[in-house]
Amino acid sequence: MAKKIILTGDRPTGRLHVGHYVGSLKRRVELQNSGEYDKIYIMIADAQALTDNADNPDKIRENIIEVALDYLACGIDPAKSTILIQSQIPQLTELCFYYMNIVTTARLERNPTIKSEIKMRGYSENDGEGKGIPVGFYTYPISQAADITAFQATTVPAGEDQKPMVEQTREIVHKFNTVYGEALTEPSILLPDNEACLRLPGIDGKAKMSKSLGNCIYLSEEPDEIQKKVMSMFTDPDHIKITDPGKLEGNTVFTYLDAFSRPEHFERYLPEYANLDELKEHYTRGGLGDVKVKRFLNSVIQEELEPIRNRRHEYEKDIAYVYDVLKKGSEEAERVAQETLDKVKAAMRINYFDDKDLIASHIAKYQK
Ligand code: TRP
Repeated sequence: MAKKIILTGDRPTGRLHVGHYVGSLKRRVELQNSGEYDKIYIMIADAQALTDNADNPDKIRENIIEVALDYLACGIDPAKSTILIQSQIPQLTELCFYYMNIVTTARLERNPTIKSEIKMRGYSENDGEGKGIPVGFYTYPISQAADITAFQATTVPAGEDQKPMVEQTREIVHKFNTVYGEALTEPSILLPDNEACLRLPGIDGKAKMSKSLGNCIYLSEEPDEIQKKVMSMFTDPDHIKITDPGKLEGNTVFTYLDAFSRPEHFERYLPEYANLDELKEHYTRGGLGDVKVKRFLNSVIQEELEPIRNRRHEYEKDIAYVYDVLKKGSEEAERVAQETLDKVKAAMRINYFDDKDLIASHIAKYQK
């Protein structure tokens, strides 16, 4: 049977937050422990982070260890999963360079991430719209295809925002295999099955959690900080008196409950309700105050994050060990990526020194 291989990763631009957790991290740990996959690679995508942080390599450098600590804290187990640092695998760059030949600029500009970036900030006085984007950033969907295919990944567990990247990877694989012969594996994305986990909003109700907006709850956050953030969460602005009927749509507290709460939480912290549906029903009917719901959410999140934070503190005592995990993981990843690169170069017929027939035919050609 064909092997089942996972590759996924994160940019090390800051500590990981609960959006990363419900969107992908938690799932990775479940998949890791399910034993259903032959191999799992988790990549710290520092080279990709540099594509739009060229002037700030120190930020990336400082956050590699933070992301690694967050991984280990969540339960990524180096005995079962390989954690690697992207920039330490030169084969990824080489693969990317060859894939560039089978992707058009038109196709890149149709990639929604690149497209919106061109719109948003890609303006340069001298060159016109879209021309102010660094070439490395512009081509990072191709580099991401290299990441995924280097390990012959079948499955990419990630958030919805990664859909266009995996789609583009599939096209590159298809094109490569058609032009040069079968050498690469077509991957599929594995999205979270819970709607709320797909795009967890920031605590201010804004669509995306982001460090610059200051609206994230980090996995490493201390309990009082978490509580402060939960209690300040955006709810229904028209729900003024407790007796007012409340709205659930766009109500961040309920979105978080959708993502985090389970029936046993009600038994423990809010036994007057059997489950989330009953709580929602009371809220929409009126008579249930925000503070009570927020306190419940706080208990739920605290319970989920406490073991993660405690494990993180344990690993923080042995940073040398964490670096050792990263180094060993990167070395293993390099060996695997080299196997794929050898296959790719053979398929592209640029493996001259390994091709005895080529050399023999050239000898024959010039033999008088
Ligand atoms: N683009 C991902 C992010 O922004 C990081 C990433 C790089 C990635 N290479 C990948 C994710 C390959 C999945 C597969 O977080």
